[in-house]
Amino acid sequence: MMALLELHELTKEYRRGGRTFNAVNRASLSVEPGDFISIIGRSGSGKSTLLSMSAGLLHPTAGTVLFEGADIHRLKDKELSFFRNEQIGYVPQGQSLLANFRVFDNVCIPWFLFKREGDAEGRAFILLEKVGISHLAASYPKELSGGEMRRVSLARALINEPRLLIADEPTSDLDVQTTAEIMGLFSRIAKEGTAVLIVTHELDSLNYGNKTYGMDAGNLLPPSA
Ligand SMILES: Nc1ncnc2c1ncn2[C@@H]1O[C@H](COP(=O)(O)OP(=O)(O)OP(=O)(O)O)[C@@H](O)[C@H]1O
Ligand SMILES: [Mg+2]
Repeated sequence: MMALLELHELTKEYRRGGRTFNAVNRASLSVEPGDFISIIGRSGSGKSTLLSMSAGLLHPTAGTVLFEGADIHRLKDKELSFFRNEQIGYVPQGQSLLANFRVFDNVCIPWFLFKREGDAEGRAFILLEKVGISHLAASYPKELSGGEMRRVSLARALINEPRLLIADEPTSDLDVQTTAEIMGLFSRIAKEGTAVLIVTHELDSLNYGNKTYGMDAGNLLPPSA
């Protein structure tokens, strides 16, 4: 059967200070609808680089990213943007909300990037409810806590009903309770059929991810059974 996302020997080579190294080294991974996959590993091990390539945001040096069998890095820029906007929800590492837009508008933005039919506003409200911050819809990002901003990014990533949700350390710096809530939310999203691929901390992944891969110096290590 064809996987939703398949990484095949994905590699990113960087050059720095006259030296080249593989930030990601021949990583292979298969993601099916409903999967909830966590990646853990030390700082600098290549986790964000792997996610960016998986989302089509960064071109690999070698290897392929297949989405339902099609190599996304062979798409033209515009096609790739549209594909990403339609199929992939992405929560980047760190703060990524637009400061001059209210929470509600931040959530709606991906919807309006391409022509669409439907009720974006209604959907945005449902999502803000789902992540527990509908009372903050009219606030600006600078009026929010880190955890609240994280929830906005998550709602924004879900606005276009992606098939795959990718999140880079969505629980870093959050307290235990909030982390549990966010991880529970990912778990629910996966059960509803969206595949979830996240980078997280070892302890956070224990009770939620159905599969946990390790990452070490660019090498992706399969879950130890
Ligand atoms: N544009 C770049 N040019 C050169 N080296 C880079 C570039 N981007 C990242 N790197 C290096 O590639 C390696 C992997 O970086 P990456 O951001 O993927 O790590 P990470 O596992 O996400 O770390 P963290 O947990 O700190 O977020 C690091 O050594 C980093 O310094
Ligand atoms: Mg990172």
